[in-house]
Amino acid sequence: MKKLFIDADTGVDDAQAIMVALTAPDVEILGITCCYGNTPLENVLKNTLRVLKVCNRLDIPVYRGCSGPLLAKRRDAGDYHGKDGLGDVPDPDAPGLDLLQKRRGVTAMIKTVNQNPGEVSLVATAPLTNLAVAVQLDPSFPKKLKALYIMGGNTDSRGNTTVCGEFNFVADPEAAYIVLERYTCPTYIAPWEFSCRNSLPWSFCKEWLCQNTEKAAFMKKITALSMTKAQSEDYQKEITEGKGFNSCDTYAMAAAIDDSFVTESDEVGVTVELEGKFTRGMMVLDYMELLSKKHKAFIMKTVDLEKLKEMFMNSLK
Ligand code: BDR
Ligand code: CA
Repeated sequence: MKKLFIDADTGVDDAQAIMVALTAPDVEILGITCCYGNTPLENVLKNTLRVLKVCNRLDIPVYRGCSGPLLAKRRDAGDYHGKDGLGDVPDPDAPGLDLLQKRRGVTAMIKTVNQNPGEVSLVATAPLTNLAVAVQLDPSFPKKLKALYIMGGNTDSRGNTTVCGEFNFVADPEAAYIVLERYTCPTYIAPWEFSCRNSLPWSFCKEWLCQNTEKAAFMKKITALSMTKAQSEDYQKEITEGKGFNSCDTYAMAAAIDDSFVTESDEVGVTVELEGKFTRGMMVLDYMELLSKKHKAFIMKTVDLEKLKEMFMNSLK
């Protein structure tokens, strides 16, 4: 059984990633910490509970994490994910925040890993603030993880948020920097352009959403806004190079679930630019080893798309 702990800023693709994990065989989700990001923290908390409710898994503990970045100015991704972070299709019967665990998110993350040393893979699909605070509170935390999977950063100078920055890293560059410097466990990164290049064909998405289940109806509703945006000509031309639907967070999750999902990756020293006028928050890959980094991360490059399709289909059954 694979033990996962998830840190999310539940917007649309985080929801997809969580639903894929919930339906994956031999995977146990030990808890979910919420982080501000796509939308303010209060929305992220509600969205996470909504996802668990539709999957009948409100037994999974959900925790309140950080509500803002360490130093950066707060930004969100409401134009893509909706003002509420989940496509602006409110559910009057959404579970109340009284279902949240009382323990603080970062403390819970550390405690859960301490109880299962060497066994837990942490999947981070949000700005990395909670993870940065965790290592500040407990410097030995990263050593106790089995692995860390991150959706974030970019490999070309092509961003989705600033000229050359990806949302999760740009939202809290200092946190991303701390995590990449101090998490010495095996680290796997799903960068933005990688997910664009390995996107899902639109024809598949139709089939995926057409399933006659409550989960599919929920997914269809919450993805409508972002799918319209993602299919627009400008977005296709400028962002995804015309390829298809890009559920970026799900790539990090799928890699954590199935070791054979990623078919090619580069092992390289990684850090984050903290200062540049145009480049603050951009991921820096040290291919020439000029930074002499002892710890290297695996940068995902290609995947087995058929495996992803299967996980997507199962997630709505
Ligand atoms: C990342 O930013 C968020 O909008 C998505 O949920 C994903 O984690 C993509 O840059
Ligand atoms: Ca996310």
